[in-house]
Amino acid sequence: MRQPLVMANWKMNGNSAANRELLKALQAEFARRGAEVSTKTSVICPPYPYLTQVAEMLQGSSMQLGAQDCSHSAPGAYTGEVAAPMLADLGCRWVVIGHSERRQYHQESDALVAAKLVAAQRADLMPVVCVGETLEQREAGEAEDVVASQLRGALADLPDLREVVVAYEPVWAIGTGQTATPELAQEMHSQIRDVLRELDENNAEGIRLLYGGSVKADNAASLFAMTDIDGALVGGASLDAEAFATIVAAA
Ligand code: 13P
Repeated sequence: MRQPLVMANWKMNGNSAANRELLKALQAEFARRGAEVSTKTSVICPPYPYLTQVAEMLQGSSMQLGAQDCSHSAPGAYTGEVAAPMLADLGCRWVVIGHSERRQYHQESDALVAAKLVAAQRADLMPVVCVGETLEQREAGEAEDVVASQLRGALADLPDLREVVVAYEPVWAIGTGQTATPELAQEMHSQIRDVLRELDENNAEGIRLLYGGSVKADNAASLFAMTDIDGALVGGASLDAEAFATIVAAA
């Protein structure tokens, strides 16, 4: 039985005052809804500078802390980078790795993503590795091959597949309002699980697969009804307390 997981990726949004307000509103929503949200695993991933603020505000709450990226290197002379053990030190239990925005704007390769996964596991963080095709790749009929190859590349060096989450985020669905249909997402998730079975027959069934890309309060339940959709990685809607709580409740 895979425990539902809903993650808020705030991306590069927020400031101290806005975060405080959003977290207060989230806590009020969570208190109002009780077990329908507190029994699900929910994770908030703010930008690095606000990790401490969010960690402090989440104390005593069922929501956990995550980061949006980490360095593949151990601490040392890497100006501007943030090492995985630093994130663990600040209270993070989760880290998103290989998001399409990192791949697109920071030229992150599968090899770099693989190294980051290893660094995250070494720091006892649960890595959430993102895969997904562009519209061009989907229209060329390459979606399944692209995702399978990203997955094989990312997981190549990982000693333990039990401690990983995979997020399928089709690039054409991110921030566009164009969600994948539940059927299309399920088809890809089922293929992802086939690849995971090839890599680790014993643990593939237990690995959580999240969907990401324009998940909203009104489409979450139909996505979560699919066999291999175990939760969501939420961008825009995670900046709205009521929408995010509704998505967590639907998981
Ligand atoms: P949106 O929910 O804004 O489409 O973003 C999805 C995403 O990239 C989450 O990581």
